[in-house]
Amino acid sequence: MKKMKLLIILLFICGCTPQQSQPQSQPIPPTPLPENDFLIIGHRGASAYAAGHTLAAYEMAVLMGADYIEIDLQMTKDGKLVALHESVVTLDNAQQAVADVTFDEIQLLSPGKEFDKNHLSYTLPNSLDLRIVDLSKILTYFGDRVNYYIEMKSPRVYPGIEEELLRQLNEHHLLNRDDPIPKVIIQSFSDKSLQEVFALEPSIPLIKLYKFSKKAHLTKKELKDVTKYAAGVGVNVEAVNHKFIDKMHSENLLVHPYTVNDENMMRSLMSFGVNGIFTDRPDVALRVRNDKNSNEIELYP
Ligand code: G3P
Ligand code: CA
Repeated sequence: MKKMKLLIILLFICGCTPQQSQPQSQPIPPTPLPENDFLIIGHRGASAYAAGHTLAAYEMAVLMGADYIEIDLQMTKDGKLVALHESVVTLDNAQQAVADVTFDEIQLLSPGKEFDKNHLSYTLPNSLDLRIVDLSKILTYFGDRVNYYIEMKSPRVYPGIEEELLRQLNEHHLLNRDDPIPKVIIQSFSDKSLQEVFALEPSIPLIKLYKFSKKAHLTKKELKDVTKYAAGVGVNVEAVNHKFIDKMHSENLLVHPYTVNDENMMRSLMSFGVNGIFTDRPDVALRVRNDKNSNEIELYP
């Protein structure tokens, strides 16, 4: 009893309680991506050769060696996450917001584009049609045999899109895994939406997207904010330059330019040290990466 009294007096003198003496909780750092990879991100699938966002385009990207399949997500009136770039569709000759129509109505649309005959040599399963699909169908079809690079489009228009996306990724056991590269990356132009994902599931690497009208540049404040949650930045390729890439790297941010389809541009960007590219032509990007790797092996035996 005497010892207890003494302890209480000491705590009182120190002006602290046992609870206050616990270390303060540290902010959770963003989950990084492997630095040395040059990731090939199949932009809407291999969309130079098949209608973007279809299972066929995604399967072709995988066959061509893409490390990730890129998926734009919108949310329909009935709460389905649909793989679609546009937030407005034309139905019955009228423009309608995706948020105002059901998934069944959306599926009446056809992505339309035919396969490029040059690439019919890639044998795709017969079951792969060219319809618009929802995320659940993509995740069910590919499971964990591919990596997903998912963009939340217009998240302000779709309240709850973050929770629904995480719910589906969890349902398909795609999070908190131990893979050589992360199974899922999430990207968005909305910092608010990315911060929400970060708060709910900090293990997912996040990419903040930017579209610059001139040279890419982030202010000190923007850098301070983005480094709190993001593993990197996705930037329109026209705006990317050497100085910007170096600056991002010095802040531990990776750089993924979009959308890079020109082979020479791919080679230049690789030599600048970008960490991956979004491309409609994963086959070309793979050739460029393989060339670089074999040159390095010859130069440094
Ligand atoms: O997500 C990167 C890039 O795809 C952003 O542009 O318009 O093609 O979705 P967008
Ligand atoms: Ca996109």
